[in-house]
Amino acid sequence: MTAKRSSIHGQWSSRWAFILAATGSAVGLGNIWRFPYLAGENGGGAFVLVYLVCVVLVGIPIMMAEILLGRRGRQSPINTMGTLAAEEGLSRYWQLLGWMGVVAGFIILSYYSVIAGWTLAYIFRTGAGAFVDADAGFSKQMFTELISDPEKLLAWHTIFILISVAVVSRGVKSGLERAVKFLMPALLILLLVMVGYAMSTEKFMEGITYLFVPDFERLADKNFFADILLPALGQAFFSLSIGMGAIMIYGSYLSHKSSITFNCFTIAVADTSVALLAGIAIFPIVFTYGLEPAGGPGLIFITLPIAFGQMPFGTFFGTLFFVLLLFAAWTSAISLLEPAVTWLVENRNMTRVKATSIAGIIAWLLGLVTVLSFNHWAFSFSFAGVIKENGLFDMFDILTSNILLPIGGLLVAIFAAWLMSRSSTVDELGLGDGLAYQSWRFAVRYVAPFGVVVIFLNAIGVFKLLGFVE
Ligand code: TRP
Repeated sequence: MTAKRSSIHGQWSSRWAFILAATGSAVGLGNIWRFPYLAGENGGGAFVLVYLVCVVLVGIPIMMAEILLGRRGRQSPINTMGTLAAEEGLSRYWQLLGWMGVVAGFIILSYYSVIAGWTLAYIFRTGAGAFVDADAGFSKQMFTELISDPEKLLAWHTIFILISVAVVSRGVKSGLERAVKFLMPALLILLLVMVGYAMSTEKFMEGITYLFVPDFERLADKNFFADILLPALGQAFFSLSIGMGAIMIYGSYLSHKSSITFNCFTIAVADTSVALLAGIAIFPIVFTYGLEPAGGPGLIFITLPIAFGQMPFGTFFGTLFFVLLLFAAWTSAISLLEPAVTWLVENRNMTRVKATSIAGIIAWLLGLVTVLSFNHWAFSFSFAGVIKENGLFDMFDILTSNILLPIGGLLVAIFAAWLMSRSSTVDELGLGDGLAYQSWRFAVRYVAPFGVVVIFLNAIGVFKLLGFVE
């Protein structure tokens, strides 16, 4: 039984178009902004190690499952889940998985856009030479000034939503392929330039040690499951763009002939390399200039400008860097809108332009919460042993990355590996029924769900109640 549907929204022109687009979705602020600041807040090496394990054991298998479902259903995630559930004789309620993803997508995009707005602001600041010879104090002050001004944040946030809507309303494919093809390599080269600068700083080795050598003493007052594993798992989902239907909808435009396995490994390797390079570039600067690794969401916006202010041609490299980061964020934001937009087109009979405008307005409005979280509405609370200072923004971030995305991924895994017939997944993955297929099936059937559930239970404190952990 083969379901060879085609998508009404089109198809990628080649396997590489898909890989580029999916890498464009995966590589973004998550790698360069979020990964280093979380690593800094959660103890460096141990977090990074656990993150890598989560990517391999949980992230990649679930990514394969999500693409598989998307390609088989060939519709918006909501309708794909409905169709596949019906086909496998399961409840229509599986559509709720798609709905949860749409909600998560709006929340993520709403704050993602505000942070992307910082990137926009930094293009102009760096371009104007604001950071030439800047010291840590000055750089910090510039950042604080930006985030305490809601009007500025709002203006940049609005621009970012507008440019995201502009691309999605013309269809995800046109433009994206060409853009990503040269932007990704350019970003990579610039990261290598930054790593080169980091190598010239006094505390390069200290930064590397912090990032790659787990220091268990630093973790003494932390709960390994709730404080390290949960944020690392959340980051794996966030960075790979899995658990909300983004990669599912991209999979729905993928040709039947293309290998899901090869594509996923390529995307995951690219995504992880960019995150690690960003870490390698940033931590030596953090230590050399006496900054706090646990500096929170401002980390890259405070550290990197100092480096640009010091290095030769820093104004040029700095401006280029923030431009490329903006593009990376842009190609990610597009994928956050796409699941909701395709549903509006399919079920409400809207034009793409109208559907995208509506989705953009929703994300824009929600974004106001984040805009205000950094100033008028700021409050702090403690999460994973870390003081989070930007109340509702942090809550949005934790709710999506650490809760909604892992639950979405868990449901995808259960659907693909427990409920769908074996022949459907064998057929879709095209790996045959040998060792490769069986390893995947084992990972999505047992390893990934078990991992997510154990981490959750711990985080919720169930194990504490049962007396399994102190
Ligand atoms: N992965 C992107 C990043 O790292 C963000 C992103 C895009 C995302 N689409 C997503 C995160 C879907 C979760 C789900 O910047």
